[in-house]
Amino acid sequence: MAYIFSIPQFVYSGENALKASMDQLADLGNKALIVTDKSMVDFGNSQKLIDELVAHNIAYCLYPEINSEPTHTMIDKGVELYEGEGCDFLIALGGGSPLDAMKAIGAVHTNGGNIRDYIGKKIENHLPHMCAIPTTAGTGSEATKISIITNTDTDVKMLLNDPKLMVDLAVLDSDFTITVPPEVTAATGIDALTHAVEAYTSIKAFPMSDLYAEAAVKKIFENLYEVYTNGTNATARREMSIAAFEAGVAFSNASVTLIHGMSRPIGALFHIPHGMSNAMLLKTCMTYLKPGAVFKLSELAKVIGAYRVGMTIEEGADAFVTAIIALTRALRIKTPMDYGVKKDDFFRNIPKMSGDAMASGSPLNTRRTPSKEDIEELYAKFWYDSEIIKASQDTVD
Ligand SMILES: NC(=O)c1ccc[n+]([C@@H]2O[C@H](COP(=O)([O-])OP(=O)(O)OC[C@H]3O[C@@H](n4cnc5c(N)ncnc54)[C@H](O)[C@@H]3O)[C@@H](O)[C@H]2O)c1
Ligand SMILES: [Fe+2]
Repeated sequence: MAYIFSIPQFVYSGENALKASMDQLADLGNKALIVTDKSMVDFGNSQKLIDELVAHNIAYCLYPEINSEPTHTMIDKGVELYEGEGCDFLIALGGGSPLDAMKAIGAVHTNGGNIRDYIGKKIENHLPHMCAIPTTAGTGSEATKISIITNTDTDVKMLLNDPKLMVDLAVLDSDFTITVPPEVTAATGIDALTHAVEAYTSIKAFPMSDLYAEAAVKKIFENLYEVYTNGTNATARREMSIAAFEAGVAFSNASVTLIHGMSRPIGALFHIPHGMSNAMLLKTCMTYLKPGAVFKLSELAKVIGAYRVGMTIEEGADAFVTAIIALTRALRIKTPMDYGVKKDDFFRNIPKMSGDAMASGSPLNTRRTPSKEDIEELYAKFWYDSEIIKASQDTVD
């Protein structure tokens, strides 16, 4: 079987990566639409970028309105601004939300129509040149051919997946991530870990995607708790930025599976941030996955040093699942109840969530392939697992 592997054309990483990338960035065009959110303005990050653009005679228009996970109306407005301001390339600065919004704006600019109609659509025309500067270490959107936009008319998080959504230039300047607060650090870091583990255990995994997934899992286990508790550790932040990129490469090529499939509907309906809803699902979904992926999970136990000589592969797989559950506990991952989700509301929506999860295609990449009925049961089990976690957290508090 043959495999295709894709990755951005240029990637800058390490100290002062943004400064180092500027000549390359100047080759992308003359006037950039900077897609970002208000916190980037407040933290002075957009100004740092603008100073570099001005120094390199690059014109710009600032669009700092991706203040939540992107919706179709934010894309409509971004396209209007891009065209009205005569921009000829795109820069995204921020977490996965501005990065995904940038890709969607680029897609609609060259392909027309409305982003709401892009679900499952092949993107025919090339996008304008794009540069992604992630400021969270999580989604890996800077490395992926994916964009996720919520259609607020239908409450569906649409998964757009097309090679044309890959950026030309990714700038991993982890100085930008130093200000990420602990809870967002934890949620985005677990998002990256979920990408790597799902890519590694996906039925579409292949040797090159495995290399990136293993590298990401190792770095995340070594550095995520450190950046959660000591956010100013620049070396650990740098490792996390690279890990998120590697995890993005892994899943962009090998796909995500059950957890992302079940997580998007929770995010769309209950407005729980993406990384957090993945993290909440890990225990239930990893336990379900294990019988279908014992060998791969035991290999990951070796990667993180949890595998001991003499263990069977089942024991190795158990050791990895245990380690991942312990990490989510150490990071104080929340439960749906912490977001005010009500049991009745959750259970009433299980058929819609299960249908939307299956329609996204992601669950079918899982080594233990679930049916829609299995996913309905898993959502119910997830709720009861969360009740137990919530009760134990309340006891500790
Ligand atoms: N395209 C992909 O491949 C891909 C993969 C996974 C997830 N996603 C999508 O990405 C989105 C989530 O992205 P995210 O988790 O990075 O969150 P985000 O971009 O929504 O940011 C989360 C919060 O962190 C803040 N923030 C960002 N950078 C900061 C910094 N440096 N300092 C302080 N605060 C900062 C933001 O203002 C925001 O309040 C979701 O829509 C998800 O579906 C995309
Ligand atoms: Fe994700």
